[in-house]
Amino acid sequence: MKPLRVLSVTSELFPVIKTGGLADVAGALPFALAHEGVRVVSLLPGYPPVMRALERIEALREYPDLFGGAARLVAATAHRLELFVLDAPHLFERPGSPYLTPDGRDWPDNARRFAALGRVAADIGQAAVPGFVPDIVHAHDWQAGLAPAYLHYGDLPRPGTVMTIHNIAFQGGFPAGFLHELGLPPESFTVEGVEYYGQIGFLKAGLRLADRITTVSPTYAKEIQTPEGGMGLDGLLRSRSKDVFGILNGIDEHIWDPASDKSLAATFAPDTLERRSLNKKALQARLGLDANPDALVFGVVSRLSEQKGLDLVLAVLPSLLADGAQLALLGAGERTLEDSFRAASVVYPGQVGCLFGYDEELAHLIQGGADALLVPSRFEPCGLTQLCAMHYGSVPIVSRVGGLADTVIDANEMAVASGAATGFQFSPVNLTGLIDAIARAKALWSDRASWRRIQQNGMVAEVGWRRPAKRYAQLYRSCLEEV
Ligand code: ADP
Ligand code: GLC
Repeated sequence: MKPLRVLSVTSELFPVIKTGGLADVAGALPFALAHEGVRVVSLLPGYPPVMRALERIEALREYPDLFGGAARLVAATAHRLELFVLDAPHLFERPGSPYLTPDGRDWPDNARRFAALGRVAADIGQAAVPGFVPDIVHAHDWQAGLAPAYLHYGDLPRPGTVMTIHNIAFQGGFPAGFLHELGLPPESFTVEGVEYYGQIGFLKAGLRLADRITTVSPTYAKEIQTPEGGMGLDGLLRSRSKDVFGILNGIDEHIWDPASDKSLAATFAPDTLERRSLNKKALQARLGLDANPDALVFGVVSRLSEQKGLDLVLAVLPSLLADGAQLALLGAGERTLEDSFRAASVVYPGQVGCLFGYDEELAHLIQGGADALLVPSRFEPCGLTQLCAMHYGSVPIVSRVGGLADTVIDANEMAVASGAATGFQFSPVNLTGLIDAIARAKALWSDRASWRRIQQNGMVAEVGWRRPAKRYAQLYRSCLEEV
């Protein structure tokens, strides 16, 4: 098979810069695709942590004026990943997150910042880097959404284009007045181009103009084509439904390996599950929970946002914590949720332990030490934490939406009897649903042999990138046949 070259355009990449699962996906796919004969180079904005991580930097191209300042494109490596980095200090050299100011507001020039990413991606797609002319430009989320648009409206031969939706809630809409400044032609401002409800829609542009559209689970691929799930883009997606594909995410099994994980107090395997009790002990100590080996510990590792449904966990706390159960929460995000969980840890000392912020090691310890992981999301394109949980013998309790529906096998009576179950699902996503799932989990927990079987099923389930990588490789190849 002909080797392929893919330019992956992404605003995050683990372990260099991460706010969520996009980084994990963008960081893992290049390695997985290498086994499929696909060479991936990732184009990233030059945020300070990115610039600090680079090795073997080679300048490729100067931009004397890229949306308001001088910039350059460099090639480099970081953590064995091949990168192109857009070193544009006027756009990216600043504190705060990739998208937000230190006080939590969108950077006011986000249109320029991410148009620059798309512009440079399109230049690479049109052979600006002679040593790496991609067959495919693969754009992730709205931040990369203008790459397919610049390629579409360009005069030069172009590669195939793929637009992936990791979360349709973030669409990147900006005032129409930016059109000229962003170098988009006037004719692009139509419903067939970048126009979206009177604005320039970055994600909309990518979805309209890319050759193929993917999202990160088959169920979410269906949900986003409905008015309830499409957040305004469902009509467009329905009109392109033959080009929309749902490809489940995986997790990186080198980073998430319970048999060798250095963040754990004790490593373990499916046949040494009893060693998890040492992780539970370490977790309880770390979060100020009572040192009770028999307590059922529920874990949460999550962004704190409306999407993740954690207000439901707050509301069910009395029944969750009945019988001496505990909650171990690691989360970062909305202040009000943080305050509520902090207050809960005061009301239930020794039973609710929280850490607010981003902590990679604690995320691993929760997965390896908690008995169950709560993921009550209102919507979830794929979700990675339930996959990590399964792989680490922590039983996921999830809402039946998006990728959660596609990855967890509910422990109904038949699935338990036949030994297929890997967790608990509930629907609809409300208090009654969650309370019922927690009750079912507690009942099964008292039957330790069945519980252990569920843990083991999860641990041996295929959650890596091998299968999804094959699907992406197939998709790239099918896309090229048509371009
Ligand atoms: P999303 O991308 O919507 O936040 P995912 O489940 O796809 O949700 O991915 C979340 C990723 O971020 C996982 O790798 C998870 O372990 C990690 N994560 C989430 N919150 C934290 C946190 N507070 N500290 C460390 N890692 C976190
Ligand atoms: C988004 C989604 C999450 C998904 C991740 C990676 O952040 O919220 O469900 O797993 O992207 O695709």
